[in-house]
Amino acid sequence: MLKGPKVSSKQKPQAQKIVDLHNQVIMTTTMVPYPLVASEAQGALVKDVDGNVYIDFSSAVAVANIGHNHPEVVKAVKAQAEKLIHFAGNDYYNPLQAQLAQELVSITPGKFDKKVFFSNSGAESVECAFKLARWHTKKPGMISFLGAFHGRTFGALSLSACKGLHKKFFFPLVPSVVHVPYAYCYRCNFNLEYPTCDVWCASYIDEVLLHSHPPEDIAGLMVEPIQGEAGYIVPPKEFLPKLEKICVENGFLLLVDEVQTGFGRTGKMFACEHSNTQADVICLSKALAAGLPMGATVAKSEVADWEEGSHSNTFGGNLLACAASLANIQVIKKEKLAEKAVSVGEYTLSRLDEMKEKSEIVGDVRGKGLMIGVEFVKDKQTKEKAVKETEKITIEAFKKGLILLPVGVNCIRIAPPLNIPLEQLDKGLDILLDAIKTVEKG
Ligand SMILES: Cc1ncc(COP(=O)(O)O)c(C=O)c1O
Repeated sequence: MLKGPKVSSKQKPQAQKIVDLHNQVIMTTTMVPYPLVASEAQGALVKDVDGNVYIDFSSAVAVANIGHNHPEVVKAVKAQAEKLIHFAGNDYYNPLQAQLAQELVSITPGKFDKKVFFSNSGAESVECAFKLARWHTKKPGMISFLGAFHGRTFGALSLSACKGLHKKFFFPLVPSVVHVPYAYCYRCNFNLEYPTCDVWCASYIDEVLLHSHPPEDIAGLMVEPIQGEAGYIVPPKEFLPKLEKICVENGFLLLVDEVQTGFGRTGKMFACEHSNTQADVICLSKALAAGLPMGATVAKSEVADWEEGSHSNTFGGNLLACAASLANIQVIKKEKLAEKAVSVGEYTLSRLDEMKEKSEIVGDVRGKGLMIGVEFVKDKQTKEKAVKETEKITIEAFKKGLILLPVGVNCIRIAPPLNIPLEQLDKGLDILLDAIKTVEKG
């Protein structure tokens, strides 16, 4: 049983060796600014190779919604590994894949016939949705949002507009994608205020359709119900329903990327349920299989009308991932984790709001369920982004035993496992407050 947090202030000799080896042999990616080398984990606690124990407020990037190494998932994966690990689910039939698809069809919003495509990641689930939209409508164009993050493959990257850095030197991307402003009320692109704005950012899409991108050329609109990598940005409740209406009225598809918001994270099984939004296509990954790599694209059956050979892959529907995912969904339902995310999320938000009142640099706190973003600013009036301070806070927190994952350039995400025990949550929030104070003092 792990207990913690427990962090030695001394050097971390084993971790440092692995960090050095990593830097020598692994390509540059997106590593955090502190040397976490995890060796085991249980629930919300993570032990590193030097025996230090940390509280995880990142759920290893919104994956461990049911906690790390949940015993039900470990049992299911072990049992399946003894029987059969892989048998190419997109080329041969297998019972677990069919069972999981049936489950996803039943738990995703919308009481219509649906079909599922299995892949291995969020980007692949988006790639499938993008291709499906083109195939079904025979139109080229897509609408997506400034701040969007949908993954790093060429199609998914073309839909993304989170950081210019993600695209630098990778052009030309997939053409005919237009990016429009998201409902980022703390920094409104139109300098308007909610609710008097009447969610103009959604209505603005009508202007784009009228003046520059005719709906006859648009296959679909891709949206995150809460923007993830841009900084956990929660739009007003009217935003998604307005988008759905625009899609219906103009005859193109609504594609919802629930890769980061899915599986109880926001207080519902899927975030678009908060506004009763019914998408034509939903993209899933991250917490789908409790840590095993898996993506899934769930589409209305009438939309999923491409022909044999249009799209496939080798590992989609992998049996270990299917076994993990089925166990994972049962745990979310049995432990009522979406409901738990609501109450624990409200408590967390109230503690963070108190921090905002006391702190000079906490500019905004926002969230739904346990998908909470904290945005740091140098000055609450000018809202100048506190980029260096944000990084320093994550490093300070790590030194004290808390894993925080930065998001955007000046935000952190508070996304612990949905079943984190209250004392660990409180301890983590105490560490965060401490880290903020230390950085504020300079
Ligand atoms: C909303 C969203 N979509 C897609 C992706 C891409 O997922 P992956 O990194 O598994 O390709 C991410 C990853 O952070 C995401 O947050």
